[in-house]
This record gives sequence, C-alpha cells and structure tokens, in this order.
Amino acid sequence: MSTSSTTTNVAVPPSPAFSAGAHVPSMDAYESQWKRSIDDPEGYWGEVAADSHFFKKWDRVLEWKLPFAKWFAGAETNVSYNCLDFQIENGRGDHPAIIWEGEPVNDDGTPKDTLTLSYRQLHARVCQFANALKKQGIQKNDRVTIYMPMVPELAIAMLACARIGAPHSVIFGGFSGQAIADRLVDADSRHIITTDGGWRRGKVIPLKQNVDEACKLVDGKVDKVIVLKRCENEIQWEADRDVWWHEAIDGMSEDCPAERLDAEHMLFLLYTSGSTGKPKGILHTTAGYMIYTRHTAKHVFDLKPDDVYWCTADIGWITGHSYIVYGPLQNGVTNVMYEGGPNYPDWERFWQICDRYKVTKFYTAPTAIRAFMKQGAELPKKHDLSNLKLLGTVGEPINPAAWNWYDENIGGGRCPIVDTWWQTETGGIMITPLPGATPTKPGSATRPFFGIDPAVVDASGAPVPPNESGLLVIRKPWPGMLRGIYGDEARYRKQYWTEIDGCYFTGDGARCDEDGYFWIIGRVDDVIKVSGHRLGTAEIESALVSHPKVAEAAVIGYPDEMTGEAIAAFVTLKSGFEVDESLKQELKQHVGSTLGAIAKPKDVRFTDALPKTRSGKIMRRLLRELATTGHVKGDITTLEDLTTIATLNSEAS
Ligand code: PRX
Repeated sequence: MSTSSTTTNVAVPPSPAFSAGAHVPSMDAYESQWKRSIDDPEGYWGEVAADSHFFKKWDRVLEWKLPFAKWFAGAETNVSYNCLDFQIENGRGDHPAIIWEGEPVNDDGTPKDTLTLSYRQLHARVCQFANALKKQGIQKNDRVTIYMPMVPELAIAMLACARIGAPHSVIFGGFSGQAIADRLVDADSRHIITTDGGWRRGKVIPLKQNVDEACKLVDGKVDKVIVLKRCENEIQWEADRDVWWHEAIDGMSEDCPAERLDAEHMLFLLYTSGSTGKPKGILHTTAGYMIYTRHTAKHVFDLKPDDVYWCTADIGWITGHSYIVYGPLQNGVTNVMYEGGPNYPDWERFWQICDRYKVTKFYTAPTAIRAFMKQGAELPKKHDLSNLKLLGTVGEPINPAAWNWYDENIGGGRCPIVDTWWQTETGGIMITPLPGATPTKPGSATRPFFGIDPAVVDASGAPVPPNESGLLVIRKPWPGMLRGIYGDEARYRKQYWTEIDGCYFTGDGARCDEDGYFWIIGRVDDVIKVSGHRLGTAEIESALVSHPKVAEAAVIGYPDEMTGEAIAAFVTLKSGFEVDESLKQELKQHVGSTLGAIAKPKDVRFTDALPKTRSGKIMRRLLRELATTGHVKGDITTLEDLTTIATLNSEAS
C-alpha cells in the first residue's frame, strides 16, 4: 500500500458539560481504564461481567488458544434473560423497551402503525413466542432463519430464539430467494420466520414470496415457515409447512424460563460477504458477545436510564443485532425502531421521528448523512432536535464534510460524534471516541475501546511508523470476537489468522497518526461497501456469469459521492450475442433477482476481453482506474493482452 497523506486535523475536546456527567469523563480516565484492560484483560472483563446475570459463574475469564477463544469458560447464562428478566428485576419493568413505528402514514402525516412495549410486555411476548417455537418443534441448537422487515416481532423472534438456545440466522430483507436458499443450506436450517410483506418507500416488499422461492430451491428441506401478518398482501400458502404467527402464539403461556446456556453456546450466525463467492456464516456465542455489546453500548453511547436511543440500521446487519437488540436492551434504555425508508413520505421522516419521541442518542450511516445533506439543512431545522445529546456513525468512512454537516445541522454543534469502526466479525464497536473523553478529529474513528489492541502493520507484521498506511490488525482476543465461520474452520484460520502471524486480520487498510488516532482507509480485499452494505465482488461476478449470455465478468468498487463506493461490472459476452443498451438493464436486473437489489451494479460495461496478468489474474487495479478516471494510464507491463486495454479505453470514451 502506498503512504497516504500525513494531514492530521486538530482534535476538538468534548464539551465540559457533556464530560461532567459522562461514564468516562476525561482522557485520563480513558487512558487508565484502557491500560488496565490491556495489562490485565481477565481481571478487567471479570469485573465488567460481574454486572450481568449469570446462572453459574465462570471458572476462567479467558481460555485462549489462537485462533480459538473461550470467554467466561464454564459459566451459564442467557442473553434473553439479561435483556428482559434482569431488567425487570432491576426495576425497569414498566419502562418502554421498544417504541416502534411502521412506514405507512395517515393523511395528516402521522404514522398509521405504532407500538410501544415496556420491558414487562416485551418479556411476555418473547416468552409466548418462545413457547410457540417449542410447540412448532424447534429445539435448543436448531438454527432458525429469520427474514423479516423492521417490525417489533423481529426483535421478539430473536430474543425468543436466544431464550431457548436456538441460534438465529437473520437475513436482511433486501436479499433475494436465491440468497436465502444459499444461507439456509449452509446453516442447515429447517425453520423460517417471516412476514407476508414489509413496507419500503410506499411499496410492499414480498418477503413471503421470496421465502417460497427459497423453499423451492432447497427442495423440501424446510419444515416450518412461521408467517407474521404485516401488509395483508396476497400470499401463497402451503398448509403442511406454513403457520400464521398469531395462530402459533394462540393459547401459549407468557411464561417461559430462559434456558441455562453454556457461555460458548452459539447465539447466532450472521452471513456476510468475503473475498470468495460464498457468503460466510459468522458465528457468535453467548457470554462474550453479551458482555461486549452491553459494555460498548453503555460507554460509546454513554447510555443513561432515561435515554431514548435510535439506531437507524436494519436488524438484518450486525449493527442492528448489537446496537438495536442486544446492547441497548441490556442497558435498559428505550429503543426507537422504524420500519421504512428515510425518505418516505419525504426526507423529513427521520427528523419527525427524533422530534416525536424526543430521541437523545442517534446512530446512523455516513451514506444516510450524505443523502440528508443533499436535501438541505432547512428540513431538519423544521423539527425540534434539541433533545439530541450524541450522534454516531458506522459502516464506512465518513468524509469530513458530512461529519461537519452532521455536527452543525443535526447536533446543533453541541453533540459529541462517535465515528465507530467495527465489523460483523468483531461483534461490537472496536475503535471509537468515548463521548465524554475523546477529543474528535472529523474522519477518524480515533482510539481503541477498552480491551482492544489494534495496530497498523506491513505485510510482514511489523508496525509501520505514524501516518503511514498499512494493514489494520488486532493483537489480542476480545469477548465479542467471532468464534468461527460456520462449518469451515480452515476458512476461519485462513481468512483471519494467517495473513499476519499471531493477529486477527481485519481486511481493512488504516493509518495511525502521532496521537494514536486511527484513520480507516477501506478494504484491502475484494469486499466493497455500497451505502455501508458489505458485498463481495466474487458473489456479484458469479451472479453475472450465471446469465446465459455472459462469458466472463469482473466487478470492482469505485468511489461514489453519495454511496461511498459504487459497483462497476466489466462483462464479456459469449460469442453470438450482441451488445446493446437493453442488455445492460437486463444484467442489472439479473443481479438484483439473484442476490438482491443492493447488489445491482451502477455501471455495466462490455469488453472483448478482461485485462489479465500473465498468470491469469484479472487486473482489478486497472478496472478501478478506468471506472474512476475514465481511462487507464498506470503500469500495465504484466498485462497479458495489451489490446484489451485499447478496447477498454475506447469503451470508456
Ligand atoms: O471496511 C470497514 C467498514 O465496514 C467493514 C465491516 O462491514 P460490516 O461487517 O458490514 O460491518 C459494518 C458495521 C459494523 C469494515 O471492515 N467500516 C465499518 N465501520 C467503519 C468502517 N469504515 C470506516 N469507518 C467506520 N467507522
């Protein structure tokens, strides 16, 4: 990697007013707690875990045999218990746990569907649904696939699975039937929870129809599909397989004692893209994930009992798992949950929601901020955002212009911004400011969280000097870390633990400045981030070559002002097929129906051949250069067929 610029912005300290009441009130407090957590991880995490509920205490805080960790070994606990029963025991029973609003609106702009559930009510619904799951034949260790829109029942389904020890595998509602089928097979999951549909930008997304298609593709492997009625859209019904949610819970008791689960019991699988065509099932377990999400949520968002916290992510991604469901509920706060798009019925929806529920802590993605920026500062100004105390971002690098706009126009210049770096694999936030302590620099995720020991190294594993870019690694195990890739130990080792000896390899490039602040540059592998969504180029390529007219395809990410990165596909056709405009649309559509709309290329280009090295590797660097600048000038000495470049350059012009 090349050395990047050495610009370091001046750090702005948090306001004394915020620091005064914060869990971590100063940089000194942060430094000493961080040092303790690194010098004595077992002592530190043992103390942190003492604030959670365990049926049986651990024998050992950490058993570490690289690359396998056991956190709180020998303990028994239950995450659902900690999110619900433990909150009720601590006097939070009547406090709102979830305030939900659906997307459709009445004529006066108020939401048609809303629901508030206190911790006690949420507990009752989770227990009732957990009993229904058991009645449907789901047992401890069965993997349950959940494919739902952002409705409270999604959180209820996850907590019910966690309660009975059935690991969930949530699939984002934007994925297609084929993508669901691939994940069902990999997880060997025989049970699906879904809805008839979900509202998105005024339209019904036909979720049940996608599930039906997936069931067909896996040919009889699915035993039961539990279907929540949400949109009342017409659906097909298979009487021996499908069961309505409301019928499944009918007559079920609202009492279901939480299973005593081993600390390392599998809590969930979450599929994510890597550098091969096959998505990997990232495996998280019970106690370590539980403690890590509770502790990070508390400190990064400085959660207090009266906070009304809103994370705008979809629960289908890790952000929603950790910072809508498990982290905030363990902290007993009120979670706002919204079903639909940020621009439905118009671009004021988010600010209306913040105003309506007096949101105090708000966590979103840089892509959303850039989209709001484009709509102008007048829209948020029309709403009362004075209850906001803290803003967060996640999922992709935030450009300083968006950071400053967020600060001024949403935070009113008074809210600390936490730019949180982490991954599906890390389970929780890893590099982040602590809002009462860390001076911020727009564009930097700043310093490591407690217990996290990151470094920027070169390919040999040697740390690089300050301000030089290199590979981001983590040198010590942490409680929220993934425990594996489901069913593929070799890939787990290869992907994360062999690149840099003795370290967890993140797949990200970064630099660390002279103040120890981390600046994330982006992925160094074949993963791209479009609007913060993680996609593998290989997955999109295999979707393209599954089209009957396509011979070969290469996919790259290139910078996009709005979505961070955009997808470009370079395609060669099988002989006999003609290039035409409509084929571009057809290929975009084909990727959409194979993987899901989020994976559609923005740009499709046809070429006679793809540029390859003499050893046959596609020269993505050239393609990226072409997509970004419109032509190729770089070093092409190892290129096999120079005429390819001529074709590509003329394609672009
Ligand atoms: O490249 C980094 C980017 O998102 C990747 C992880 O994606 P995913 O597993 O989908 O999880 C996203 C939500 C936690 C990382 O490897 N990324 C995440 N947060 C940031 C970021 N890049 C820059 N700044 C961030 N704050």
